[in-house]
Amino acid sequence: MKKGMDLLSIHALSADDVDEILTFAADLKAKQKAGITHPILAGKTLGMIFEKASTRTRVSFEVGMYQLGGQALFLSSRDLQLGRGEPIKDTARVLSRYLDGIMIRTYGHECIEELARYADIPVINALSDLLHPCQALTDLFTIREYKGKNLAGLKMAYVGDGNNMTHSLMYAAAKVGMNFAVATPEGYEPNAEVVANAKADAAATGATVTITHNPMEAVAGAAVIVTDTWASMGQEAEHDARTAVFRPYQVNWELVAESGDPRCIVMHCLPAYRGEEITEDVFEEFANVIFDEAENRLHVQKAIMALVMGG
Ligand code: CP
Ligand code: NVA
Repeated sequence: MKKGMDLLSIHALSADDVDEILTFAADLKAKQKAGITHPILAGKTLGMIFEKASTRTRVSFEVGMYQLGGQALFLSSRDLQLGRGEPIKDTARVLSRYLDGIMIRTYGHECIEELARYADIPVINALSDLLHPCQALTDLFTIREYKGKNLAGLKMAYVGDGNNMTHSLMYAAAKVGMNFAVATPEGYEPNAEVVANAKADAAATGATVTITHNPMEAVAGAAVIVTDTWASMGQEAEHDARTAVFRPYQVNWELVAESGDPRCIVMHCLPAYRGEEITEDVFEEFANVIFDEAENRLHVQKAIMALVMGG
């Protein structure tokens, strides 16, 4: 990845970019575990704009900047003039005069694209309604830790809502040659444009993207099963209606057994809602993987920031 690049979508990265991020993240993780300091971003500042809640993203970006020798500013949209109607394009141009990078979590993906268009510093997508690239790159990193470096030919199954996680995982899998199968209820399928893009990326790496309404079919032969909340941030009012529709898509032991692979792992980006998208017993069985996945946000985002803000 070149210095100054934005990270808005995995689709815009090359397979080499993805490999570079994951390899550098492993190096940074090893350094941090060994207590070797790595002040790659000394003197640099990241602005972190949040229009939605966060535990992992906020803490991992802030701690990550600190470990890289720089600092991070938490900028809630409730406090910024952005929340009172100051245009994104003005916010972008102002912040570019103070900061070395911007991380943003918001609703509409087009807001992140506009911010990136007007900012002349790197912009990192920390979740939009459409995409969550930092999480999906972290998921690839975590899968590599459990399954080895070469992921080509392995199957990833996603069961649940066709949401931001589905989209970014689909892009991530396609870039590394993983076969991706998604099972959602009717009416909750992934975005058609994202599916078309992911299929084009998958064709380049010899992988497949399969969309179904049948969760058993999706998980058959899967090395990795992933799920996410049935009601994402901003969909709280739909929670009860969604719970009724999504019930057959719960990741429980019966579904995990359908993978047929005794080494199959289950992943979840968190926060997890037990008794909804995943059962308590499946969650706890795979807690080591899931909390490694949460930890790895730190290492992967440090690699991204060091590459685009440091160079
Ligand atoms: N997985 C994830 O992005 O978590 P937060 O919403 O807590 O940041
Ligand atoms: N799909 C979830 C992911 C949370 C990290 C949401 O957007 O709320």
